[in-house]
Amino acid sequence: MSLFDRLVVGTLPFVPRALVGRVASRYVAGETLEKALDVIRTLAAEGAVATVDVLGESVTRREQTEAARDEYLRALDAIARTGVPANVSVKPTALGLAIDPALARENLHALCRKAAEVGTFVRLDMEDSPYTEATLRLALELKAAFGNVGAVLQAYLRRSLGDLDRLTAAKMNVRICKGIYVERREIAYRDPGVIVRNFAALVDKHLSAGGYAAIATHDEACVQAALSTIDRLKLGPEAYEFQMLLGVDPLLRKILIGSGHRLRVYVPYGRDWYAYSTRRLKENPSVARHILRATLGLGPASA
Ligand code: FDA
Repeated sequence: MSLFDRLVVGTLPFVPRALVGRVASRYVAGETLEKALDVIRTLAAEGAVATVDVLGESVTRREQTEAARDEYLRALDAIARTGVPANVSVKPTALGLAIDPALARENLHALCRKAAEVGTFVRLDMEDSPYTEATLRLALELKAAFGNVGAVLQAYLRRSLGDLDRLTAAKMNVRICKGIYVERREIAYRDPGVIVRNFAALVDKHLSAGGYAAIATHDEACVQAALSTIDRLKLGPEAYEFQMLLGVDPLLRKILIGSGHRLRVYVPYGRDWYAYSTRRLKENPSVARHILRATLGLGPASA
């Protein structure tokens, strides 16, 4: 990121919340489940499926984790009732992992049980490194108990290629992404080219071992590497899926769907949209620049 972009991103905390909300609305379905269902229907008309995320992470009180769990249960009921093509993605800290692993386990058991009842699937998102091992253990335990559970590996983590062995052995559906948190060099690659190569290696290793991979990226280099493995292994579209975030690169989404690949869009909703949206904006300073110009009362940038 250039120095200028870093400056732009640094000003985000001073931008009025309503303005961030307006520009960031492309990344979030809305505040309610009904809005999320509308977005999923629109995506379905394009040929995409969805994974629903109830926004909220790193909660500090038990009641907050119970509220998150109940909202997920409501979402699972709605998915079953309406028949929209969706499963759910869950941040373990939103269900209590930072408070007490036993609490997170209890809440996750309730979710996975409900998802199994209604015939859908729960993915445990991967958060920052203090939670990596606990999250993988939870995912393996839930997979053994319920079957309908998937995990995530981050290509920037040095440990991920090794962790993949445990997941592949458990026949886990694994989402592979670059990783979004700031991690120490001791445990994480920093060079973008190295991260892309590790992403490609993880996808290749998992698919070559017969595992189901969810290839979560908007980076053409990662997409191309995955397609090369898919081609080499002569895999059909039932062996993997691509995944993208709501609001990011709809053209790439269209290209992949048009080429016959399964494409799942990550659809976040909920009242806690601010932290998620600013994270998205920090990743995309060109959108953040538009916000800054609007805040300063300047017209749209020409580029
Ligand atoms: P890269 O960052 O190089 O982006 C490629 C291109 O896409 C850029 O040129 C940029 O223009 C565009 N782009 C990327 N992100 C954008 C954004 N937010 N807004 C606008 N444009 C953007 N991480 C994690 O640590 N744990 C997790 O569980 C998940 N889960 C997850 C699910 C799904 C479905 C996706 C797509 C991603 C995640 N991630 C994640 C986030 C992931 O780790 C990563 O930070 C982002 O996907 C960005 O990496 P790319 O591979 O897209 O490449």
